[in-house]
Amino acid sequence: MPHDGPSVARATVPRRFATADGRGAFLEGDNVAGLDELLRDGSGSVTLAYLDPPFDTGRVFETQGRLAVDGVSVAYDDRWSDRAAWLEALASRLTRIRELLAPHGSVVVHVDSRTSHYVKVLMDELFGEENFASEIIWRYRRWPSKTRNYQRVHDVMLRYRKDARVEGRWNPLYEDLAPSTKATWGTRKQKAVVDATGKRVRSMSEDQESKGVPMGDVWDIGVVAPVARERTGYPSQKPEALLNRLITGLSNEGDLVIDPYAGSGTTAAVAWKLGRRFVTMDSGEASREVVRARLGAIGAELLDDPREEISKDPRKEVAA
Ligand SMILES: C[S@@+](CC[C@H](N)C(=O)[O-])C[C@H]1O[C@@H](n2cnc3c(N)ncnc32)[C@H](O)[C@@H]1O
Repeated sequence: MPHDGPSVARATVPRRFATADGRGAFLEGDNVAGLDELLRDGSGSVTLAYLDPPFDTGRVFETQGRLAVDGVSVAYDDRWSDRAAWLEALASRLTRIRELLAPHGSVVVHVDSRTSHYVKVLMDELFGEENFASEIIWRYRRWPSKTRNYQRVHDVMLRYRKDARVEGRWNPLYEDLAPSTKATWGTRKQKAVVDATGKRVRSMSEDQESKGVPMGDVWDIGVVAPVARERTGYPSQKPEALLNRLITGLSNEGDLVIDPYAGSGTTAAVAWKLGRRFVTMDSGEASREVVRARLGAIGAELLDDPREEISKDPRKEVAA
């Protein structure tokens, strides 16, 4: 039945799990509550927030095969009363994320071409047009669908800076030289030769090998294949290669990366492997199980957080 989103009815204090060294945490529950918990003492502490919310598809997503929890295979429900309800839910998360971001930080929202234009307007309003940084197109290949239209083979990731006046985190990445460039110039670095007016007249090869071309905003990365080792069986799982580019480029070791829509835990797994701190959140039981297993397998076992005071509901204390 259409509703105003899985979150609205369940904004209770999240259950907290954390790695023994405290470098990573998973908050189980509605992410509004999770973000509020982070805001209690973490305002301005986040370098990168990645959000991969349900895309407003009108569908219920199921886990595949062995992942069914207690015989229930629903992973998450993506039915909304209308587009406005979906956007409002996203807005309330983004408002909190703006508060959580460090001045050098940025937020990336992953959506598709059916909603990206609404989300861009929303983010212009919340973060300011001047803080818009990139529209990244993730282009993938998949089995063609029957349609008298162009195949839909891309998602959109919108990146906004917290404050474009501040030097943001930025670790430049490179992609391979084009085959035509390699054929003509080889793989050595090219240097522009300019005339007296500063106009480029030709280029010449230097001794150093080229690092490649500075990374563009169209990324050709395969979807998680059915036989891929990273595949968990959780629906909408994003490839680690995608998160690897974002986290490597937009944060440093030790920085805090958050993902309020954990799903199978891709962001957490990649952040852990890259030496970042992470906090991820999800309201679903299936997600909790998948994330714990996935992180456990790479040495980031999530334990019930012993820091009781963090997960306590302050309202209960007042009432006691
Ligand atoms: C598209 S999936 C994320 C997939 C993830 N990026 C991955 O690679 O596996 C969206 C996730 O958001 C979760 N979710 C939706 N609404 C939520 C809410 N209000 N609070 C917490 N989690 C929520 C769903 O349970 C689902 O796991």
